[in-house]
Amino acid sequence: MGNVRVVELFAGVGGFRLGLEAASDRYKVIWANQWEPYKTDQWAFDCYVSHFGKSSNHVCKDIAVAKKDIPDHDLLVGGFPCQDYSIMKKNSAGIEGKKGVLWWQIDDILRVKRPSYVILENVDRLIRSPAKQCGRDFSIILRCFYQKGYAVEWRVINAADYGQAQRRRRTFIIAYHNRTKLFQDFAEQVCVTGLKAMHRQAAENGIMPKAFPIASHQRSYVDHWIDEMRFEDMESLSKIQKVYLYNAGVMMNGRIYSVEVTPRHEPFIPLGKILEQGSVDERYFLKEEDMPKWIYAKGAKHEQHHRRDGSVYWFNEGAVGFPDSLDKPSRTMLTSETQVGRTSHVVKDLQTGKLRVLTPVECERLNGFPDNWTNTGMSERMRYFCMGNALVINCVMKICTELLNSDNHYK
Ligand SMILES: C[S@@+](CC[C@H](N)C(=O)[O-])C[C@H]1O[C@@H](n2cnc3c(N)ncnc32)[C@H](O)[C@@H]1O
Repeated sequence: MGNVRVVELFAGVGGFRLGLEAASDRYKVIWANQWEPYKTDQWAFDCYVSHFGKSSNHVCKDIAVAKKDIPDHDLLVGGFPCQDYSIMKKNSAGIEGKKGVLWWQIDDILRVKRPSYVILENVDRLIRSPAKQCGRDFSIILRCFYQKGYAVEWRVINAADYGQAQRRRRTFIIAYHNRTKLFQDFAEQVCVTGLKAMHRQAAENGIMPKAFPIASHQRSYVDHWIDEMRFEDMESLSKIQKVYLYNAGVMMNGRIYSVEVTPRHEPFIPLGKILEQGSVDERYFLKEEDMPKWIYAKGAKHEQHHRRDGSVYWFNEGAVGFPDSLDKPSRTMLTSETQVGRTSHVVKDLQTGKLRVLTPVECERLNGFPDNWTNTGMSERMRYFCMGNALVINCVMKICTELLNSDNHYK
């Protein structure tokens, strides 16, 4: 029963670490990295350090520079920023991704370190991006894992479906290397029953369906290859690959199976439950002079807009709840939370009944962070920003709990 040595990338204010530590004290983060590009003030990193300590293993540098110092580890985790993953050019050094794209930093780390397990988090649209070549980016990621000897499971999870207070939809990925018992058991099943084993891994036996049980699945599915028989190299895959992937899937030995699943719902926490009970400072209440802007932003629209070339089109959108219902989970929190606009939440204050935005503490609660986690010297705006960037801790906890239960090595 050993410890699991963890490296945490793109650590932000430490959401992954909180999820790991809530799952088990056998997860030991031995190295972490967080750097807000080109900013003098590193508020997220400062917050991380104020909770987890100042250490030479908590590094605030561009991951492109810091990666050379990463120690050997068992599990690599990170909520990596979402970008364009396309392959741009072939040069003497082989295929290179677009400059600065962070997926390729993770790929480099996998190439050198080959951790047994990898858990990643990204936006829900990752599996369909880019819009013009659906599924290309995710196929590139899967091919990278395949080339390094990993099997992959993914699920798009709405945290509120599994008992949380926020309808945050995110793609979670877990990859396990062929040296692990998890991989070997899965591979053996695929040898015996082929696609059926792929389905079972996605719907019942894998880490994801155990962490996030499903009620049912659609009959249609995707069965698709991304190996070198199908695409000679990464460049050809990048050029022509197009595949519509569903919210659950697995990849084993270069073969993808994907199916749309329906969660087995756990009762959610309504937004009203996480609101502050006592009196809330005046500054959070909507100002009279901003009301027209709020009403416009939240309302239905049917407007003529102009394209750059001068042509005209109709812009339509429906109204959103104003104020937000306290009986439902919140919508997804963004980095712009509380700024006047459609996506910010507006609630009826429990004490006064007046309309107001969420407080930083309420935003922390929506992600499952302890109260005042980001109250470490940064401005309120930055606190909202950090929570918009962070994740629902409970989702990480569920995956990491299942990982320990499922791999014999760690039982
Ligand atoms: C999606 S957020 C992850 C937030 C984190 N999971 C949390 O709970 O707070 C991605 C993080 O990557 C950081 N980042 C962006 N570019 C980076 C780079 N080149 N090197 C290191 N970190 C970077 C951002 O500052 C941001 O905090």
